[in-house]
Amino acid sequence: MEIVRYPDPRLRARNAAVERFDEDLAGVAREMFRLMYATKGVGLAAPQVGLNLRLMVFNAEGEEGRPDGERVLCNPRIVSRVRTKESDEEGCLSFPGIYGQVVRPTGVTVEAQDLEGKSRRLQLEGWEARVFLHEFDHLDGILFIDRMSPADRTRIRGQLADLEEAWRQRAQA
Ligand code: CO
Repeated sequence: MEIVRYPDPRLRARNAAVERFDEDLAGVAREMFRLMYATKGVGLAAPQVGLNLRLMVFNAEGEEGRPDGERVLCNPRIVSRVRTKESDEEGCLSFPGIYGQVVRPTGVTVEAQDLEGKSRRLQLEGWEARVFLHEFDHLDGILFIDRMSPADRTRIRGQLADLEEAWRQRAQA
């Protein structure tokens, strides 16, 4: 398993619902956490490892060995968002070295299935809500550059072009 970088088409592809809650799924989630920690990330969505499934893992504290912060969400659905929004800097493991300001709601209520397929409702706030919303976007093929402020979008244009060029060269090799 490895992290897929922009502009790999799997980041924009449709993601299917998780239907089999078995050992394989648990193994995928474990491997995603391992990769996430190894790359100093706080969240990872399945399409970012080339699996077009509605599955995400995150740990907003980003600290391995603090498993109480670990969340695995299958088929998440947003029940409600708070009205307040905030801008903060985000990065994405599929866009190494690129950061920019993104406006998002400061709280969200979510319903999702766990690795056994049991439905659970959770309330997320602040940074954790932001991490969830970023990963949730991945499940709909939306990337943080789509939501970045116009100024940041302009600022990172060269870095995006470099990623596109690197991807073209890899695809040809
Ligand atoms: Co991302």
